[in-house]
Amino acid sequence: MAEVELKRGLRDVFFDNTESSNVIGDIGRLIYRGYDIHDLAEHSTFEETVYLMLHGKLPSRAQLDAFDKTMRASRAIPQGVIEVITAVQKAHPMDVLRTAISALAAFETEVDDVAHDATLRKGIRIAAQTPTIVAAHHRIRNGKKPLDPDPSLNHAGNFLYMLLGEKQDADTTRLMDKDLIVHLDHGSNASSFAARVTASTLADVHCAVVTGIATLKGPLHGGAAEGVMKMALEIGEESNVETYLKGKRDRKERIMGFGHAVYRAEDPRARHLREGSRTLATKKGQPKWFSILSKVEEQMRPYAERGICVNVDFWAGSVYYLLGIPEDQFISIFAVARVPGYVAQVLEQQSKNILIRPLLNYVGPTDLKYVPIEQRG
Ligand code: CMC
Repeated sequence: MAEVELKRGLRDVFFDNTESSNVIGDIGRLIYRGYDIHDLAEHSTFEETVYLMLHGKLPSRAQLDAFDKTMRASRAIPQGVIEVITAVQKAHPMDVLRTAISALAAFETEVDDVAHDATLRKGIRIAAQTPTIVAAHHRIRNGKKPLDPDPSLNHAGNFLYMLLGEKQDADTTRLMDKDLIVHLDHGSNASSFAARVTASTLADVHCAVVTGIATLKGPLHGGAAEGVMKMALEIGEESNVETYLKGKRDRKERIMGFGHAVYRAEDPRARHLREGSRTLATKKGQPKWFSILSKVEEQMRPYAERGICVNVDFWAGSVYYLLGIPEDQFISIFAVARVPGYVAQVLEQQSKNILIRPLLNYVGPTDLKYVPIEQRG
């Protein structure tokens, strides 16, 4: 058998060129379309950053206004999708979201069209409808009627309003806006790669987004924020941190919110959410969670020498918890942010498509003789 060089998990493999985002792992930098994530988190808005990712450059004021207007006008979901959500309401929010986006395809008039403009139009609609689905499910499973989207609110503000049932103040809305910006895109992360594989078969953008959401659900990817807050609740008090972490180490368990497949330095996205968590904890009169997580971060410092540093999900969980969002919805917030990222990557894949089809090195037997079932021992 010929020797092959395996790259398990496709680590360190470049499979294409991209102009969408760049994760520079050794120094902890993240670039969207040429712009540093810190600049975008501090100065841009989610709507503007989505425009940047979909169109490749920052919009003029008129372009942004038109884009924002289209996004606001596209938020409603068909009654048929509400009925599907109602039928599957007991499932995990990510399973409901995945199912609802599949259902949306049934109401889409240009579903099979994979031309650039059609994909862009559909992609904007899916991005605008994702928060509506997440919020509608949350209300339905709590026996409440879904709230209609409020066109006077921006994307982040409207999402929080539909989810929590109350309009949030400007600081809280801005924190969610930042959270969505930093989660928007991230190079060849597992779910965006999966979405690209689907797009590479020339399947439509709804199929690609469904693939992305299914892949995002795993605890090694989008599920970590929920794991972090579960850990903080288990720890309970700052004084328990050391013993808790020792127990984890002894059992060789991973600490959620640390480590990354590409970053060997601190995840640059974490900084914005750490600040958000600190401010929100004080504002909500619950400084305990910030103190516990700060102590965990401090105790994990020796891991940094092995390149295991804090990642975006470490602080995200506490922000969502303090906002009163239930833990099983944390990952849906990641999805609200990442869906337009999938759309940007699908557009890029389609623009110079090649079927993504790697090889597996077969190591099983080859010359077994078929034995009829009656003669098998
Ligand atoms: N806690 C303890 N040890 C860890 C951790 C962690 N969080 N992460 C990696 N390691 C250890 C791991 O046990 C292994 O040790 P050894 O070589 O002794 O067996 C070594 O580091 C390498 O692990 P790996 O899985 O080969 O490394 P990776 O770079 O592929 O891991 C990861 C990436 C995200 C799967 C991993 O760091 C992890 O499981 N982290 C916890 C889950 C998490 O926080 N995920 C969110 C990632 S950021 C959001 C996103 O973009 O999805």
